[in-house]
Parts: sequence; structure tokens; C-alpha cells
Amino acid sequence: MSIKELTFHGLRNLAPTTLQPSPRINVLHGDNGSGKTSVLEGIYVLGMGRSFRTRQLKHAIQTEAPYMTLYGRLAGDPEVTLGVRRLRTQRELELRLRGEKGVRLAELVEAMPLQLINPDAFRLLEGSPAGRREFLDWGVFHVKHHFLDAWRRTRRAVKHRNALLRRGRMVASELVVWEQELAQWGEEMDRLRLEWFSQFLPMFEETLHKLLPLPGLTLRYARGWDKQRSLAEVLRDSRETDQQMGFTQQGPQRADLRIRLNKQPAVEVLSRGQQKLVVSALKLAQGRLLESTTQRHCIYLIDDLPAELDDRHRHQFCHLLEEMQCQAFITSVEATALRNSWQASTDIKMFHVKHSPAGWSQLETDG
Ligand SMILES: Nc1ncnc2c1ncn2[C@@H]1O[C@H](COP(=O)(O)OP(=O)(O)OP(=O)(O)O)[C@@H](O)[C@H]1O
Ligand SMILES: [Mg+2]
Repeated sequence: MSIKELTFHGLRNLAPTTLQPSPRINVLHGDNGSGKTSVLEGIYVLGMGRSFRTRQLKHAIQTEAPYMTLYGRLAGDPEVTLGVRRLRTQRELELRLRGEKGVRLAELVEAMPLQLINPDAFRLLEGSPAGRREFLDWGVFHVKHHFLDAWRRTRRAVKHRNALLRRGRMVASELVVWEQELAQWGEEMDRLRLEWFSQFLPMFEETLHKLLPLPGLTLRYARGWDKQRSLAEVLRDSRETDQQMGFTQQGPQRADLRIRLNKQPAVEVLSRGQQKLVVSALKLAQGRLLESTTQRHCIYLIDDLPAELDDRHRHQFCHLLEEMQCQAFITSVEATALRNSWQASTDIKMFHVKHSPAGWSQLETDG
């Protein structure tokens, strides 16, 4: 899976742009504020239907432009085209896949698996479980086809059960209906997550070992409810306390990944650079597992790769990316920071993101 052509219109400070990236390594360099992260943002919106920088996508639309359009062609036989348009005046995105309108976001996400490594990626360690669940479910979604269905049914059941819990007078017969639904699909979600996790864990350990050996580091999957009991039992027994709290306290909606170093939360003891490498190992392992189970490659968006990493670790990171044979878009302020990190045989394109006299930034191919 790689992007062979990208077109952006009305995105942040970028002049209308079309680029033909390398199927492997693409380095975007340029001054602060030139628009490097915006290019990654454009690719992310194209594949995920949302931005990693703002909750309100209208902020990504160029000042005074009525809309932004992002368009991509993915290599393959037949090739796949994707398009996203966001009007300033309309919240809904217009999505296109293979020329068809009215596609669902999940189809877009499935067509172009993306992994982002940026300063926010640290949230995987230090933030709330929601980010780690999203990470976990990304993996399961791309590998296990009916996961999305189980996920949707579970979410719906939790929503209904919570609404009933908050209604004041609790009617057990109504609760039972949603509890049965939640128990059935919640157990299924857990089964799929656990299956995925048992494949992911060795992949993560191997990846981490290549980047930064940390023998005391452990990664554990917590399913969100008591290990010894069925979800149906837990839901039934916790009705009263759930009603007092006003929400379902246990279930797959509370699953988490626990990352510890010598039994302490990893985020409390690792240095910033070590955290970046652990997060990178998690994200690279996702792609490696996807590759080994589905023969599909994911595309990496890596914002400011050199930051926080010493020379040796930069090299190891780049070496792993090369080994994976995937496409990557990497930003760096200095073009030289990654110059010696690649093998001669790797297909690399360098793009200089440059302010133009007209005000908008342009991408120039180096060399
Ligand atoms: N909606 C918008 N319309 C026009 N310009 C915008 C809009 N939103 C942000 N900008 C400008 O676009 C640029 C975005 O820069 P971006 O964050 O992509 O730069 P960068 O090259 O990643 O910089 P850094 O090296 O500091 O991370 C900034 O100069 C910003 O002021
Ligand atoms: Mg940036």
C-alpha cells in the first residue's frame, strides 16, 4: 500500500499542490511554519476523515478558501483513488472511494491504513486509556474483519444501558435486553482483541529490542472487567453501583493496554527519548503485524523524526522503517538531520517545503 500521487487544495498554508511521492521514504524539510506538518495532516485527513491537530476540521481550511479538497491515488492493480472534501459551511465530509460517493468512513480507513508518530503520540503512554484503546482497536480492525460489527453493537448497547441507568427508576426487564446484547458482543470484542494481542505482543517485544532493549518493560492487555467472571455476571451484579455512578463501569469500553517498566508505570520512569522509542516500537509493531498477517503495508506519518533521538537511535529507527518496505512521510526542520540514516539502495525523495513570495508554501523536489 503506497500513495503514488497526492493533491491538496485549500489546505492550511499550502499552495495547490500535487506530488508524486516515493513508494518508500519521503522526507519533508523546511523552516518552522513552512507547512511540513500540514502535509502529514492532509494525508491523515484523507485516510482517517479527521485531523490529528484540531477537532474542528474547518481550521485546516485555508483562510478565506471556501473548502479544502484532498485527493490521493494508491498504487495497486487496480489502483485505488480516495478523495475528501470539507466545505467551510458544512460539517459533514464528502468522501469518495474508487470514484464512488457516499462511502462510509470505515471504508476509507480500511483502504489506507495509516500510523502517525508525532509529539502527541506520547499520549499513548501518558494519556487516558481511550488513546490506547483506539490503538488496540486499529490493529484488531485491520486484521479481524468482523471486529467493526462487534464494536458498533457493543457501543450501542453501552449507550442504551447508560441511558436506562440514568433514568432514575430502574426497570430490570429493559436493562436485561441491553445487558444480553452487551455481554454477547463485549465477549466477542474481547476474544478478538485477545487473539490480536497474542500476536502483537511478540512483535512488539522484537521491535522494541531492535530499537532500544528494555528487558524490564511489560505490555499487558486488560479487558475491562473482572478476569474471573463473565461479562453477563458482572453487569448483573453491578447494576446498583452502576446506577449510582450513572454509567457502566466495567466492560470492553474500559479495556486498556498497561505498559510498565519494572512494575512501575513506564511513563513515570522512562526518559523522553526512551518514551519516544517505546511509542515508536508500538506503532512500528502494528505495521509489522499488519504486514505479516494480511500482506498489506501501512503508511507511516512521522512528524519531526530527529527530535529527542540521538544519532544511534535515529539510525536504528530508520533502519527498521527500511526493513519494513513501507511508505513513510517524515518531516524534519534540517534536511541534513537524516542524510546519513539510509542505505544507498533505498528509494528516497526529499521535498523542500518553502514559503513563496505569494504567501503560500510550495513543495519543491530536491535533486
Ligand atoms: N487555516 C489556515 N490557513 C492558512 N494558513 C494557516 C492555516 N492554519 C495554519 N496556517 C499556517 O500554516 C503554517 C502551518 O505550518 P505547519 O505547522 O504545517 O508548519 P511546520 O513546517 O510543520 O512547522 P514546524 O517546523 O514549526 O513544526 C503556519 O505558518 C500557520 O501559521
Ligand atoms: Mg511541524
